[in-house]
Amino acid sequence: MTETIFEKVDHYLSEIFSLEDDILKDTESSIIENGMPEHSVSSNQGQFLYLLAKMCNAKNIIEIGTLGGYSSIWLGRAINGQGKVISIEIDKDFAEVAKRNIEKAGLTNTVEVKTGRALDVLNQIDLKGKPVDLFFMDADKPNYVAYFDWALKNARKGSLIIADNVIREGKVLDQNSTDEKVVGVRAYNQMLAKNNKVVSSVLQQVGIKDYDGIAISLVK
Ligand code: SAH
Ligand code: DHB
Ligand code: MG
Repeated sequence: MTETIFEKVDHYLSEIFSLEDDILKDTESSIIENGMPEHSVSSNQGQFLYLLAKMCNAKNIIEIGTLGGYSSIWLGRAINGQGKVISIEIDKDFAEVAKRNIEKAGLTNTVEVKTGRALDVLNQIDLKGKPVDLFFMDADKPNYVAYFDWALKNARKGSLIIADNVIREGKVLDQNSTDEKVVGVRAYNQMLAKNNKVVSSVLQQVGIKDYDGIAISLVK
């Protein structure tokens, strides 16, 4: 299959910024070898998450959907030594793959993978009075609004709440969609548009992950 211009530019940016070291490359390989879905963020998106984590001076990060730990490693590197990433994964086998990748990245003390259904796990987390600085949701689109509500309750002024895959190749336009992922992200975008506790912006994205988008909300 021929590469699109968007994929070529994604690779170009990844190359000139040297975005993927062996750890990140091996993490992606482990996902393919283990027959896991190829749903990790791209290297450019990983770099963007890293930048956002730095910009809000994140110490406490929560991620919904670990997969092989690719985005967790980017987030862990952004706060290394100064905080913690809790990443929640429903699939025990995926969580084991992720833990191995996180260990190889030297981030075992920074990134904790918790196994379970994210909503259940969230309700058991003890934040020890500290706010969540950055919340990244990247799984289970039908529950995006519920994740947002939890994140907002546990945020501070200036926290970021980020949601991946809110455009879905433009399927987000289809008000009659019966695809639960589309219905989920449509409800999410609509909620953000009306929510006056956050300032939000939705970015359309193209590249190796086709056409999708990310919603970024800053807590007022
Ligand atoms: N953030 C990852 C990709 C996550 S893909 C990265 O960019 O590297 C989504 C993951 O969420 C999958 O591994 C899937 O098993 C997991 N998942 C799906 N539903 C979930 C739920 N309800 N709770 C926790 N994890 C879930
Ligand atoms: C899907 C999920 C993702 O998190 C992603 O980045 C791309 C696709 C999916 O479920 O189709
Ligand atoms: Mg995603």
